[in-house]
Amino acid sequence: MSIAKKEFKRVTTNVLQEMKRRDERISMLTAYDFTMAKMLDTAGVDVLLVGDSASNVMAGHETTLPITLDQMIYHASSVVRGTERALIVVDLPFGSYQGNSKEALSSAIRIMKESGAHAVKMEGGVEIIEGIERILTAGIPVMGHLGLTPQSIYKFGTYTVRAKEDAEAEKLISDAKALEAAGCFALVLEKIPAHLAKSVAAALEIPVIGIGAGGDVDGQVLVVHDMLGMTHEFHPRFLRRYLNLFEEITGAVTQYVADVKSKDFPNEKEQY
Ligand code: KIV
Repeated sequence: MSIAKKEFKRVTTNVLQEMKRRDERISMLTAYDFTMAKMLDTAGVDVLLVGDSASNVMAGHETTLPITLDQMIYHASSVVRGTERALIVVDLPFGSYQGNSKEALSSAIRIMKESGAHAVKMEGGVEIIEGIERILTAGIPVMGHLGLTPQSIYKFGTYTVRAKEDAEAEKLISDAKALEAAGCFALVLEKIPAHLAKSVAAALEIPVIGIGAGGDVDGQVLVVHDMLGMTHEFHPRFLRRYLNLFEEITGAVTQYVADVKSKDFPNEKEQY
């Protein structure tokens, strides 16, 4: 049995580090609302990420940039209410931390105070280290995020694999080491070559959680709407779909519409 399941009621950052030491893989999924969070927590997901991907999958924006701190807090507090076991990590949204470390700290404090979540995640390397250090001084755990960092999409220009060239790979390795030295408790690596992710995970003591980063890291994260097939126009190579809910749900709702139109619903037993 997993150590997180056996020995601890609530997964903590220490539990994740112990899992890495024992070579037990960490499972992480995104969650944005109470009902889904309850199902994921019941299923035993170790970490729930209230990702700023809510901007895409919940609000329909093309990028993660528009989501606000208030909106992230709303999603995070719903997720917290739906869980008993998972560690809840919340993305600091674009514009709430990059400018200066004082603003970064006050954004992180708002998330912790108003949502009841347990940690924050921030995209970037040495350029945001001052903000990370300031947040850590307040006792707020920070998860790093390197590789494809969607808040910088207009700098990259595309969502293709990052750090394929030596210079970018070297910067990623030195950023990863700097985040660990600063005190981050874990690191997400998004869409980078598997051999690079493997060497970062081997070089760090903190857990490295991959998305599109191969199997030789300490855990995996996916966007829950993608792995359940609620989104159906997105087919990256790294995505494994466990359900096809887009078809299931549209099929069920098509039937409901037909039943209402034909006056089949409600029937005698479905009324008072
Ligand atoms: O916002 C998000 O969903 C994320 C994951 C892709 C890691 O940051």
